Amino acid sequence: MIGDSDLCPASYAGFLDNPIRRLLHSPVRIVGPYISPGDMVLDVGPGSGFFTRPMARIVGDGGCVVAADLQEEMLAMLLKRAEQEGLVSRIRTHRTSLHSLDLEGYGPFDFVLAFYVVHELPDAESFFIEVASVLRPGGRMLVVEPKLHVTEESFAETVKAAKAAGFSTEKPPGVLFSRTALLSKA
Ligand SMILES: C[S@@+](CC[C@H](N)C(=O)[O-])C[C@H]1O[C@@H](n2cnc3c(N)ncnc32)[C@H](O)[C@@H]1O
Repeated sequence: MIGDSDLCPASYAGFLDNPIRRLLHSPVRIVGPYISPGDMVLDVGPGSGFFTRPMARIVGDGGCVVAADLQEEMLAMLLKRAEQEGLVSRIRTHRTSLHSLDLEGYGPFDFVLAFYVVHELPDAESFFIEVASVLRPGGRMLVVEPKLHVTEESFAETVKAAKAAGFSTEKPPGVLFSRTALLSKA
């Protein structure tokens, strides 16, 4: 169970969204292989949109990225940066609640990204069940967690929760300083 203190504060947004990280965690290299023009993408816990904006460039005008975050301040920063980059028309922001993504009416999605967020959620299994309900058959989800905060054992529990929700695993991409799982829905 998490409390407010486990949430990544909105004041960290600059730390997570900067040119140096773009070299280390190149969004195009990490998520590019799983997204195509016209896709519907869900970015869970996007923060200020470090991955949302590059994904919006890839999906193009025919696609859409739904950025679903618990914190209004993060979504406001995301929209500001997206506006500066002319990407607002391809992005929809959505405020979640702590215990649910509240995604009724959204989807089906082709791809879901959960980058450095699952360890902040109160219940991984219900999260994966909820994601499975909005992902299209054959759709994929990439889960990335920071090695600094998430032990190997804890990440194995996360993958177990995903499998319990019906996901199978594929070979994931390597991401610096991180543990990764590439999940697919039958
Ligand atoms: C460490 S930040 C990662 C941001 C982004 N994915 C990145 O890699 O730059 C975690 C984000 O997850 C969000 N978050 C935490 N709990 C959430 C929940 N229950 N639903 C949606 N977002 C949540 C936080 O508000 C924060 O923006």
